[in-house]
Amino acid sequence: MKLWGGRFTKETNQLVHNFNASISYDQKFYKQDILGSIAHVTMLEKQNILTEEERDAIVDGLQNILQDIENGILSITPEHEDIHSFVEATLIERIGDAGKKLHTGRSRNDQVALDMKLYTRDEIVALNDLLKDLLSVIHRLMSEHIETFMPGFTHLQKAQPVTLAHHLGAYFEMFRRDRSRLRDIYDRMNYCPLGAGALAGTTYPLDREYSASLLKFDGPTWNSMDSVSDRDYLIELLSALSTIMMHMSRFCEEIILWNSNEYRFVEIDDSYSTGSSIMPQKKNPDIAELVRGKTGRVYGALISLLTTMKGIPLAYNKDMQEDKELTFDAIDTVKGCLALFTGMIDTMKFNETVMAASAKRGFTNATDAADYLVNHGVPFRDAHGIIGQLVLLCIDKNISLDELSLEEYKKISPVFNEDIYEAISMKTCVEKRNTIGAPGKDAMTQIIAINEKYLQES
Ligand code: ARG
Repeated sequence: MKLWGGRFTKETNQLVHNFNASISYDQKFYKQDILGSIAHVTMLEKQNILTEEERDAIVDGLQNILQDIENGILSITPEHEDIHSFVEATLIERIGDAGKKLHTGRSRNDQVALDMKLYTRDEIVALNDLLKDLLSVIHRLMSEHIETFMPGFTHLQKAQPVTLAHHLGAYFEMFRRDRSRLRDIYDRMNYCPLGAGALAGTTYPLDREYSASLLKFDGPTWNSMDSVSDRDYLIELLSALSTIMMHMSRFCEEIILWNSNEYRFVEIDDSYSTGSSIMPQKKNPDIAELVRGKTGRVYGALISLLTTMKGIPLAYNKDMQEDKELTFDAIDTVKGCLALFTGMIDTMKFNETVMAASAKRGFTNATDAADYLVNHGVPFRDAHGIIGQLVLLCIDKNISLDELSLEEYKKISPVFNEDIYEAISMKTCVEKRNTIGAPGKDAMTQIIAINEKYLQES
């Protein structure tokens, strides 16, 4: 059944129907469509636009449709243009004339705007929970690895020693910000477009504040043209999702490197790895690679929607229907990636000895050796030069700074004494760094306590 056959004298061309239809994907929000309609008729009755009997018949009918779809008794079929037409047609088929009053004072334009908001609002909550699961795993790992030394890198060159807790703590911050971005989007989008009509409101005495409160919005939207043509919140969401993917992708890149034979910092669990069909020795980090790869797809959705929206005059235009597949795909992709990624790092083994040995081998304590000289009155620039010479010597002898003899130290600068070894030990290098946010044990313990509280409270 068509909702708009009246002014037409010819059947729609089949290809036109197919091209125009959105039911293959907008059926994803059948539940939100039905709940939105229930709120709408509840409001219509309160305003005496429908009688109690009409409202009850419609609400009952809609609830049965919802149940039947969920139990698999009613299947959503493609001869309908979209989910809105399907629900309305099924309602009329089931309850007769009362069903024809469902769409009073409403347009599919405010209806679809509502459905999409209800749907994405639920998904934001689900995404937020998945991010929290991920943060909980990172938090556990941080608590376990406050004293696991590893090299910190800049330019992918060993720079200064840090701890695994500290390195993971960087990701904790990123994913915490991701959650707060989702929260912001939720708060900004949580206004109800229902009652905006096609674009110019309606002459019926709708109580838009009431419908909004029934659907747990913070209030109605304030301009009916904007209500039906605003897709900002989807662009913001796709941007937040892109950032989540970017964070996971960076982490995946590190895991792929760390899992390689050259690094061996981590070993991905067998249950999260895959093999090769030809090379029997291989254990590949496919999950990490796929998460990294799928990042492009989510970025693509963001750029597509931005581009779709850029030339659309007010108010509703059919171009906007393109928001659905992009957004659904991006949300499903990010949800899948978050779940897999969390499982992967939860089961991953960290090779503490290899990490510590690597930190030691890369002259990551060279800054601390220079600081030692500074503490003994040598100007920093001179100290930098002296340690540079010592590093050269070490490279030549293929040893690390703490393997030089005191004589060798003294030959280059008489300032060195026996306590140099203590000053450049991995433990000292890390544990002396206790400014807020640094890897030292005291600083790290403070941050972990803050994170613990955050996870309990939000
Ligand atoms: N399927 C449409 C969409 O997603 C629903 C709104 C249709 N409105 C219209 N005036 N044709 O945008």
